[in-house]
Amino acid sequence: MALRRSISRLAMVYLVTLCLKTAFVSAFSSTNTPTTPTSSVQQRSANQQALEDAPPFPRTWVPLASVYELHPDRPTPLRFLGQSYVTYQSNDGQWAVFDDACPHRLAPLSEGRVDRQKNRLECSYHGWEFDADGRCQEIPQADFSTMQKAMQNERCHVKSYPVHVEKNILFVWPWADEDPLITVSQPHCAPEHFMEGVSENCTTYTRDLPYGWDTLLENIVDPSHVPFAHHGLQGKREDAIPINMTSPSDLSPEGFVFQFEDRTMSMRRQGGAVFRAPFVIHYKADFETPSKEKQKKRANSPKVFNLTAIMLPTKPGWSRIILMGAPRTKQIEKKEKERLVAKIFRKLPSWLVHTFSNRFLDSDLAFLHFQEQERERRGVDARAYFMPAQSDRCVSALRKWILQYAHIPGPLPAPLTDRGVLFNRWTQHGEHCRHCTSARKRVAKWRTNTLRLLAISLVLAKFTAARVVAALSLLLLNRLSAVDKAFSDGGFSHYDNH
Ligand code: FES
Ligand SMILES: [Fe+2]
Repeated sequence: MALRRSISRLAMVYLVTLCLKTAFVSAFSSTNTPTTPTSSVQQRSANQQALEDAPPFPRTWVPLASVYELHPDRPTPLRFLGQSYVTYQSNDGQWAVFDDACPHRLAPLSEGRVDRQKNRLECSYHGWEFDADGRCQEIPQADFSTMQKAMQNERCHVKSYPVHVEKNILFVWPWADEDPLITVSQPHCAPEHFMEGVSENCTTYTRDLPYGWDTLLENIVDPSHVPFAHHGLQGKREDAIPINMTSPSDLSPEGFVFQFEDRTMSMRRQGGAVFRAPFVIHYKADFETPSKEKQKKRANSPKVFNLTAIMLPTKPGWSRIILMGAPRTKQIEKKEKERLVAKIFRKLPSWLVHTFSNRFLDSDLAFLHFQEQERERRGVDARAYFMPAQSDRCVSALRKWILQYAHIPGPLPAPLTDRGVLFNRWTQHGEHCRHCTSARKRVAKWRTNTLRLLAISLVLAKFTAARVVAALSLLLLNRLSAVDKAFSDGGFSHYDNH
């Protein structure tokens, strides 16, 4: 009996020791026992695994950002379906995209810096360094042999994704276990398909919007809101007429097409659009010119409406829009005459165009943010809508398409009741746009110099000329403050927009 008790006690001690040892080894395996992943599941990054576990979303190349706006010398955070990525440009001009978490202790790499001398991305928490393939090349805290041993472990490196730049748009293949070359057999998943009809070297405007991808898509397939929501910016309220719109019936994984006839800027417009699911809507329409005289004038420069918008689900309640604009330099056919307005617009600095675009998107931002909150509160999705007119046909089609082929990331975060946050143009656009960032820096420099000039002119105020300079400096300071404010403070009051 005593012998049996001792044996069972010994067995118990052995089991406890074994458990403790296993726990200890697994807790410190990252530093003490480099391991090679044994299954494909282990080889997936946390982001890939999260996308695998999420409800299905079309597996295509994903347009994450515009290289026309990205800062080449600093890492930029990117989001897709709630996952975080970081991009930076390596010395050979190629863009790299990684998971935005340092393998050491998960600090965001987008808070780090690009070391141009070493051509590496540095995590600025403890200084680990990664090359353009995401391979760790430096652990400052480890001696040579520890570092060599650690580097044999895949956990030492950061996941890097296949990247393709097409017409200034940075496409990424974020999915696990699939070859991006699959797009050869499925051309509707390829970057070239999404960017068809867009000029080479086009300019862009990107904004992260406080409403979801589905709400943004819904807004873009709906031309009927333009006369009201964008009154005074594109057309006016008087443009509103009953809109003829075809009902897209041929819904497929590739998307759908529709035709429409409406009026904007006092001119009738007729055309069509294609939804290249799940990210792009491309419009092309012709304007009917109002008088014969004007028709003559415009014979060589027909007015057409061309719009390509990219829409990305970034995280619940947020989406990214990338609007494609005209290239800075344009090859004009000999007999084609470019319209003067288009010519002037093309010559404007990008930061100024972005300021107009910010204002344009401000004008329906609150509608969309609170509309989707109310839709979610009612819990019946788009069935909560009442849409008797033809102009909403595409909204219905889009909702059907989403139900069939995608899912909406959710649940929504709490509504943004602070309008300063809701309309924050700087966090939504400016801080990640190299054109707006450098323009704002120039404005700050001008302000400093003008303040200096003001101080000097006040010291010399007994001279009339100095007093004039002081007055002009004050005026200039006032204007510079207004420009600076335009980079950050958005908002729109329809009750004041007559
Ligand atoms: S968390 Fe990146 S180096 Fe420590
Ligand atoms: Fe900008």
